[in-house]
Amino acid sequence: MNPLLHRLHPYPFERWRELTQGVVPNPALPHINLGIGEPKHATPALVLRALSEGFPGLASYPATAGTPALREACAAWVQRRYGVAVDPATQLLPVCGSREALFSLAQTVIDPTQPGATVVCPNPFYQIYEGAALLAGASPAFANSDPARNFAADWSTIDADTWRRTQLLYACSPGNPTGAVMPLAEWQRLFELSDEHGFVIASDECYSEIWFGDEAPLGALQAAQQLGRSDFRRLVVLTSLSKRSNVPGMRSGFVAGDADVIRPFLLYRTYHGSAMSPAVQAASIAAWNDEAHVRENRALYRQKFEQVTPLLAEVLDVKLPDAAFYLWAAVPGGDDIGFARGLLAQYNVTVLPGSLLARPAHGVNPGAGRIRLALVAPLEECPEAARRITAYTRSIAPE
Ligand SMILES: Cc1ncc(COP(=O)(O)O)c(C=O)c1O
Repeated sequence: MNPLLHRLHPYPFERWRELTQGVVPNPALPHINLGIGEPKHATPALVLRALSEGFPGLASYPATAGTPALREACAAWVQRRYGVAVDPATQLLPVCGSREALFSLAQTVIDPTQPGATVVCPNPFYQIYEGAALLAGASPAFANSDPARNFAADWSTIDADTWRRTQLLYACSPGNPTGAVMPLAEWQRLFELSDEHGFVIASDECYSEIWFGDEAPLGALQAAQQLGRSDFRRLVVLTSLSKRSNVPGMRSGFVAGDADVIRPFLLYRTYHGSAMSPAVQAASIAAWNDEAHVRENRALYRQKFEQVTPLLAEVLDVKLPDAAFYLWAAVPGGDDIGFARGLLAQYNVTVLPGSLLARPAHGVNPGAGRIRLALVAPLEECPEAARRITAYTRSIAPE
């Protein structure tokens, strides 16, 4: 067996299941699950229609690079959304969801024969980054999120020696679990570091279409263009239809950016066998070409956040995030696991303890003392969950 498999950590949900063995959820209340970040809104009819109209395509093997029509639809979306031109022939590839692409990108980019190959990740983070680094024969290094700076990853804590060994950096904007959007200045700093040390930047932007402010989140390609880097050197962006179009089961997204990264990535993917089904390609074209359903989806999330955030803010340190569908709340007393277990036992609400989403680094676990609430449950369930969380918090930490 591949010995690197032993370096993988259990997934946060696995650890949460272990931690809740023996916890009996209050049977008098129906369960509300704010634990898992899975979109639950309805899949748009136009996507389902295009999917079924694409069924005849199942009679052929798809190309790993996807059809020109799909790549052009994705590139046209990048142009509309970010005002950025990418060449659909050389700077873009469809992928079967951003998860597999985040993983396989590391397998393409990392040279494990270099001593101390390193992948820099934000912390807390999406656990695929770490697993991708480990299975590629590299080690992760973590930049902790700083609550004092809107949870921005503190890249300055990575020392010079680690930067020298860094081959890949994952950024996540909007962030999971913090919802923070990276501003232009932070991108500028990362581009400078990438120029100095030669590492590839993978920008995970799968939450880019769920946002709460006046302006859509800045994307990495857009940041690169604004900073005069229109060749997107050593930069690739990964995005997805899962959250934008409520199709997590369809497995569809794309990668765009530096042609010198996309080319070897296509080669790797050809052997890995990750071509997108023709029916999914047809449905993806329909999804990328439509914005009306994305606006409706965003409006639904906004409604939930407007109802829930003020209720929770009465008892928890929490604020409306820039984007994504999570609240990242500090709990009184700082014991996130104890809080989440107690909440499940007494009020039958599942939330995810923040310490399970981060690794101890630089002397702390930056997820400790916080919980992640995914506002994916139906509209009416979210304020009910907030009322229960408020009652529970008051019961353990009376004001
Ligand atoms: C930060 C982040 N990136 C990527 C993904 C993967 O999404 P998908 O593979 O559905 O595109 C997720 C899913 O939850 C996520 O939270």
